Amino acid sequence: MEEQSTEKKNNRILGIESSCDETAAAVLENGTQVLSSIVASQADLHAKYGGVFPEIASREHIKTIYAVVDQALKDAHLSIQELDAIAVTRGPGLAGSLVVGMNMAKGLSLASGIPLIGINHLEGHLYSAWIPQESPDYHEPQFPVVALIVSGGHSSLILMHDHLTYTQLGRTLDDAAGEAFDKVARLLNLPYPGGPSIQKAAENGNGQAFQFPRAWLEGTWDFSFSGLKTAVLRALEELHANGRPVLVENLAASFQAAVVDVLFNKTMNAARQFHAGSVLIAGGVSANRALRNVFLDQKEFPIHIPPLHFCTDNAVMIATAGYYRFTHGFKDDLSMDVLPNWPLVSISSI
Ligand code: KG4
Ligand code: ZN
Repeated sequence: MEEQSTEKKNNRILGIESSCDETAAAVLENGTQVLSSIVASQADLHAKYGGVFPEIASREHIKTIYAVVDQALKDAHLSIQELDAIAVTRGPGLAGSLVVGMNMAKGLSLASGIPLIGINHLEGHLYSAWIPQESPDYHEPQFPVVALIVSGGHSSLILMHDHLTYTQLGRTLDDAAGEAFDKVARLLNLPYPGGPSIQKAAENGNGQAFQFPRAWLEGTWDFSFSGLKTAVLRALEELHANGRPVLVENLAASFQAAVVDVLFNKTMNAARQFHAGSVLIAGGVSANRALRNVFLDQKEFPIHIPPLHFCTDNAVMIATAGYYRFTHGFKDDLSMDVLPNWPLVSISSI
């Protein structure tokens, strides 16, 4: 195995992701070339429940994983034997979903002898900023990096000292940012996933129409969004009680403005305090236009936000994290199990 990986020298990494409602596989070569990327989203199946239904998610992963991995290898024009490592999301995520990707990866590893690398999903989101890009303006983030990860399951502020070395500065005390978007969308009768539909509704709304609360949680880098969600509910109830028209656009815009305000200001304060070389935003909510714009408009720190298709779950980010782990000497074995509650900080460099 050791010999195999040094002989090949192409560092071809197959990434597999199945932590939530996307089944994804991708191949990355030498950390510099994305050879393939397949994402099969189940969002339509979960839409009628207004959120991810875990049993349906794992069943769908089982149905699609083989075809997704097969297509990623075909698009890359590679056989399994030509890979150097298989990077698979180990956690955090839905246990029943993670297991499907893990078993696929283990099966491939067992059959081929190619080493396995377990990847933390949040590390994957961070490494979406290192996915090779064709743009001539692309530069790698400079350490120390202050990173905001905002997705359906997580809201964390991370200090990345160097490759694969992190300190968690703060996290959400209740709902994740994406979860807040999804729940508020449900309150406003907007379709799942809530983020894109709130963004769309907000485009025609006034973000100042409602003064929703901002939970600054001074003295910490933590977040809280459940009070904001309750404030939207109260505003809705009041409009109904008074027989006033419900302007969904204004509610959506004012909610979005409150989320963006807190995420932006807390991240910028952390960047100042920790003398960041770069600021990075990742995770599904980093696809939000208002959030991207406010970060892109500031000139204090170089800002890194992945292209839209790499903000939401994908396997290129897992393969990219896998590339950095593989080239830093990390390897796992077939005894590896999924870790549905795996915090990012528990992984350190060797
Ligand atoms: O990273 P991701 O694909 O999956 C998780 O790891 O959770 O993030 C999904 C989340 C969902 O909550 C979705 O509503 C949110 O990202 N999202 C957005 C936008 N696009 C996706 N939130 C706000 N604005 C968007 N444009
Ligand atoms: Zn994610």
